[in-house]
Amino acid sequence: MSAGEKLILALDVSERNHAIELVKRFKDYVRIFKVGSELFISSGSKIVEDINKKGRKVFLDLKFHDIPNTVSKAAIAATRLGVYMFNVHASGGLEMMRRCRDSVVEVCLKENLDRPKILGVTVLTSISKEVLLSELGIQHSLRTHVRHLSGLALKAGLDGVIASARESSMIRNHCGRGFLIVTPGIRPSWTPPDDQKRTMTPKEAIREGADYLVIGRGILQHPDPLKAIELINLEILTA
Ligand code: C5P
Repeated sequence: MSAGEKLILALDVSERNHAIELVKRFKDYVRIFKVGSELFISSGSKIVEDINKKGRKVFLDLKFHDIPNTVSKAAIAATRLGVYMFNVHASGGLEMMRRCRDSVVEVCLKENLDRPKILGVTVLTSISKEVLLSELGIQHSLRTHVRHLSGLALKAGLDGVIASARESSMIRNHCGRGFLIVTPGIRPSWTPPDDQKRTMTPKEAIREGADYLVIGRGILQHPDPLKAIELINLEILTA
């Protein structure tokens, strides 16, 4: 995989035109664009088709977390839209993840569609170990919880997980090669942490075993976003 294939640019903007302009501007350097709740809700599902028409892939980041039947139906709808990857919360449980995976496989076979990669969100990179314990009531350590949820995603037949790069090597050891690790919370040296708590630089993340890096503000809030992408791709290449 080349450097540009490992970088996922988060289109964290609210307007369709703005998102499309970003895709046009960066499509020679980025293969996958992430569409999250803000853009999807404000511009509608057609944004996926628009990006695909420009020859680029979409990571639909809507983090489904609901009863198995509802998540399966949403997953089928996402598959029909033509997304390259999408995610569900691993804390939705084994049955939810399994039924989601099975429904996607079934609809792809029946309708001859490309099967999207399904990723389980472990613990959000904005959650600290203190919050995990005091607010969410999880008694064991953050790393243990991430390992547990990653193992559950693997058991359910998902393709990989979303986690902090800080947990990548532990997930790799636990879930093996071929299990995708997608890491947000990436902070190039020039970026402030913002609301993210468990961050790493692009180079560190790749060295820890991340397959894909999701980056939003580190690129979009840089005075020269193209320069930021070049620097990040260089870090990925030299990691
Ligand atoms: O701007 P920044 O690089 O922090 O953006 C990270 C992106 O990754 C955001 O769109 C955020 O919603 C997403 N994300 C995350 N943590 C997860 C899953 C997705 O930060 N566990």
